Amino acid sequence: MEKRIYIFDTTLRDGEQSPGVNLSVREKVEIANQLAKLRVDVIEAGFPISSQGDFEAVKAVAEEVKGPVIAALARANKKDIDRAWEALRSAEKSRIHTFIATSDIHLKYKLNKTREEVLQLVQEAVSYAASFGAEVEFSAEDAFRTDLTYLCEVIEAAIESGAKVINVPDTVGYSTPLEFGEFIASIKQRVKGIDRVILSVHCHNDLGMATANSLAAVAAGAQQVECTVNGIGERAGNTSLEEVVMALTTRKDFFGYTTGIKLDEIYRTSRLVSTLTGMPVPPNKAIVGRNAFAHESGIHQHGVLKERSTYEIMNPETIGIKTDGIVLGKHSGRHAFKKRLEELGFELGEEEINKAFYRFKELADRKKQVTDEDIEAIINHEVRVISEKYRLENIQVYTGSSIVPTATVGIRVDGEVVEDAACGDGPVDAVFKAIEKVTGFHVELVHYSLNAVTGGKDAVGEVTVKVEYNGKLYMGRGISTDILEASAKAYINAINRLMHEAGEEVIKNGV
Ligand code: KIV
Ligand code: ZN
Repeated sequence: MEKRIYIFDTTLRDGEQSPGVNLSVREKVEIANQLAKLRVDVIEAGFPISSQGDFEAVKAVAEEVKGPVIAALARANKKDIDRAWEALRSAEKSRIHTFIATSDIHLKYKLNKTREEVLQLVQEAVSYAASFGAEVEFSAEDAFRTDLTYLCEVIEAAIESGAKVINVPDTVGYSTPLEFGEFIASIKQRVKGIDRVILSVHCHNDLGMATANSLAAVAAGAQQVECTVNGIGERAGNTSLEEVVMALTTRKDFFGYTTGIKLDEIYRTSRLVSTLTGMPVPPNKAIVGRNAFAHESGIHQHGVLKERSTYEIMNPETIGIKTDGIVLGKHSGRHAFKKRLEELGFELGEEEINKAFYRFKELADRKKQVTDEDIEAIINHEVRVISEKYRLENIQVYTGSSIVPTATVGIRVDGEVVEDAACGDGPVDAVFKAIEKVTGFHVELVHYSLNAVTGGKDAVGEVTVKVEYNGKLYMGRGISTDILEASAKAYINAINRLMHEAGEEVIKNGV
């Protein structure tokens, strides 16, 4: 039998801790469903005690997503564990993931506890979590900077108390591959009962070595890798799921392990996470970056044309990048469009298909060829959206090098179109000010980015904004072949999300 590495995905928990990322419950469920299609072994859906939103998201994922084990994070205390279990209890398969820091530096400055006190808390927390009948994972936070003898004692206690998975995090991304491999090997050698549990690793990418450290741990005997899609996460991020999976697959000759991942869902998962989190994937990102399979130099192009393996160690098709070049245009009918949606793996209801088809026709009127990326953008930006109180109906912008930019927007508010105009420092500023006049919201723009979904002069522009309102960040996204229209849609989307999350009772601060 082939030796299997378990993939524990923490995109929805550690990944969501990326600065400025703030997913709604529906978006988390959508990502979790895609992770189930990707066939990850475990989905860590959130940290239920941390907020009501996180609790609801874990509960919704536990109720709706079938296949993978659903995990929830809890500190090593009864209140956290109770809340995690409450959120998880309806899951098909559940795991309570409890943790406490074990390094001296955390004990002294964060927990203000002795090693003995922490050891006691580990025993109490793990046995309490196990009493619910859920599988229990224990993590020793900052394990890599923990005294090894003490760490082994803590791990042994967790196993004796009922933990079935032991996770060894490099919380601050301090390790190097050689050291981390040796560290894991020592734990395997020294801890009594370690062969009865799954040994897991969880690496952060502060020095850019999270993937390398995780793979070194696998080579030393770790059986589970914790990771996130696109490597998103706290600070420099976590181990990247696609990198670990494709390294194990491509270099099976070296590692000798398989994963259960459905490789051709990798690219779609990466795109979905990038769109919903508003975190663009850098073009040179391994595996899923736009340039990961692009060959610029003539020598490389020539080599690849003659024999792919000269310069390519993986095929783009393996991770689900479509290279069949099928494009749709304004003469494509509903049937062809629906078929392409199915081929792209979208499962939509009739109403969603109708909405998508209408948007597709609008786009096809402006753009000769509508690509798979355009269709994906339509679905992610225009079809699967939260309820819209405000909707852009029309926009006119008057701008130039020697005039004051002026924008007029027409926004549908509860069925009625309201228009207003404003001047600004630039055309985008004028558009945002006009929107603020109509909606009555004054929010602070903290981030604005513009990406082309595909190449060419008529490319669809994808705008992502992050706005701050009452100390909280909200993201908004919009697409259009006109970048000012895409900007307006993104800004309105952020305001809709703000209203959706904060509820109707949100107090407008006016402008
Ligand atoms: O980085 C870390 O130590 C963590 C633990 C909670 C597993 O995220
Ligand atoms: Zn972490």
